[in-house]
Amino acid sequence: MNARFAPGVRLRGRVAPPADKSISHRAAIIGAMASGPVRVVNYLFAADTLSTLDAVRRVGALVERHGDDVLIRGCGMRNAQPPGDPIDVGNAGTLMRLLPGWLAFQQGASFTLDGDASIRRRPVDRIAAPLALMGAEVEATGGRFPPFTVHGAGLHGISYELPVASAQVKSCVLLAGLATDATTVVEAIPSRDHTERMLARGGARVDRRQVNGGYASTVGNADELALEEIRVPGDLSSAAFLIAAGVLVPGARMVLDGVGVNWTRTGFLRILQRMGAIVVGELEEPGALNPAEPICDLDISYGPIAATTVDADEVPLAIDELPLVALLGCFAEGETVVRGAAELRVKESDRIATVVDGLRGLGADIDALEDGFAVRGRGGLRGGVIDAHGDHRLALLGAVAGLASEEGVEVVGMEAAAVSYPGFADDIATLAAG
Ligand code: S3P
Repeated sequence: MNARFAPGVRLRGRVAPPADKSISHRAAIIGAMASGPVRVVNYLFAADTLSTLDAVRRVGALVERHGDDVLIRGCGMRNAQPPGDPIDVGNAGTLMRLLPGWLAFQQGASFTLDGDASIRRRPVDRIAAPLALMGAEVEATGGRFPPFTVHGAGLHGISYELPVASAQVKSCVLLAGLATDATTVVEAIPSRDHTERMLARGGARVDRRQVNGGYASTVGNADELALEEIRVPGDLSSAAFLIAAGVLVPGARMVLDGVGVNWTRTGFLRILQRMGAIVVGELEEPGALNPAEPICDLDISYGPIAATTVDADEVPLAIDELPLVALLGCFAEGETVVRGAAELRVKESDRIATVVDGLRGLGADIDALEDGFAVRGRGGLRGGVIDAHGDHRLALLGAVAGLASEEGVEVVGMEAAAVSYPGFADDIATLAAG
């Protein structure tokens, strides 16, 4: 499906961005590990997180939808059942990398996971290696890719230093660690900590602490998780597209309701503030060790922005928003550079290649780096046609580029947006009517 986004729309008013994708995936998986019923309030009903509901159903959980909520009646920690044929994770990397952490300690049971064409290009050796150290076996295609099979086993604890800054890998190891005496994951650069917060609220022993500038998270022996209710905040990563539109579209002024502002997710807002953008909200203090997920309303106004540099230590805190930093860079004064972000190459698309080619096609002066990109701002963007390459964040990037461009943008493959933000066009229409 192609969609056209044109300039000249005034974006004003108030909308609630969709529910958080990362937290919804975790709520479904951790809910399925629990013994008692877990009500997930404001679950994200989008393609990725519907795949997760499907996956937990297939291993034995019961899932009921009630309006915007889901009720999950889990299997208990050690009672997931192999469904016989492969579990389809669709396009969802988070599902593919987190679920095996639980499956790895279903002793004597084997589970095969597979997904779409994009998923089959995304590495799973990064979870296979630590799970093997813990005692489980993971057989992957070519040693690295889906489809892959997890053979559950009795696990022992490890202390694991993450070779790549990845919350997905960290979460996988921590979920598996619940079946060990103690398992520690050390990260040189902090990544999102929703798993730690949710497990702590579920009664697991979780210790997250600062070590030598990085963070260490330790979990151990949880026979049961007790989470009656999980409230999912609005997704900062989805809100980021509206925020960028608010900053870039002349005359825009918007309030976004109930956005999650866990500091391990708000790197993009700090980057924006450094660029001079007007974004007002009560953000969580960086470094906070808080089991709750803080939320606030964000108030965004159109205004000029200046170039900035984003280095490796900021990357995990803004990983999914870096394509938007490239777009903002087109409108800023000066050169905007993102480095230390080679992980972008193994997302739903190679986001260094697709962002650089895509924005260049719209008139941007942008170059790819091995581990990021450099954009020379020209105070605007011409417009044209951009292909989403099946990547939801590319589709949404193209849409925002169109609203802020001189001539408008045609997005080829706009349907990809349904992976995380099915209501995007409606939210833009609401703001345009305001
Ligand atoms: C996610 C972590 C990030 C992010 C992804 C969601 C998560 O991936 O890009 O969209 O929910 O843990 P990595 O941890 O692999 O960087």
